Amino acid sequence: MENELIAAARSAAQHSYSPYSEYSVGAALGFAGGTVFTGTNIENASYGLALCAETVAVAKAMADGVRGGLEMVAVVGPSGKGGGEPITPCGRCRQVLNELAALGGTDPLILCVGNDTTRRVRLSALLPDAFGPASLV
Ligand code: THU
Repeated sequence: MENELIAAARSAAQHSYSPYSEYSVGAALGFAGGTVFTGTNIENASYGLALCAETVAVAKAMADGVRGGLEMVAVVGPSGKGGGEPITPCGRCRQVLNELAALGGTDPLILCVGNDTTRRVRLSALLPDAFGPASLV
């Protein structure tokens, strides 16, 4: 699953629409049963409206009816910027990922993929004490 997700995220990044930042990001979500959804960042001439790769991937999955089962996420940043170091999901994406994960009661492993190293961290470690669906009950 790990290698497949990393390859899928790299492939998704090739469709990045990021003419303003020139910072391409790819994300791949792995679900129980093996389904994979990918996303890439989509920027806008109104800069603040950029959509992150992880959020696009969650939107694609949820628009297809997926509600939970999120086991693993791979996030790949550009090889030439930031020294090719692994990037972690931004704050908003952590919250968006948490919603989908919470629906299935999982704590997905996030693979932050750099040129030479992959950092593995649980979503709960990136977003402790999360506000989620249960908070509203
Ligand atoms: N970006 C992502 O796609 N995911 C993140 O977690 C961090 C940032 C995108 C947004 C923008 O298009 C570019 O990276 C530079 O911030």
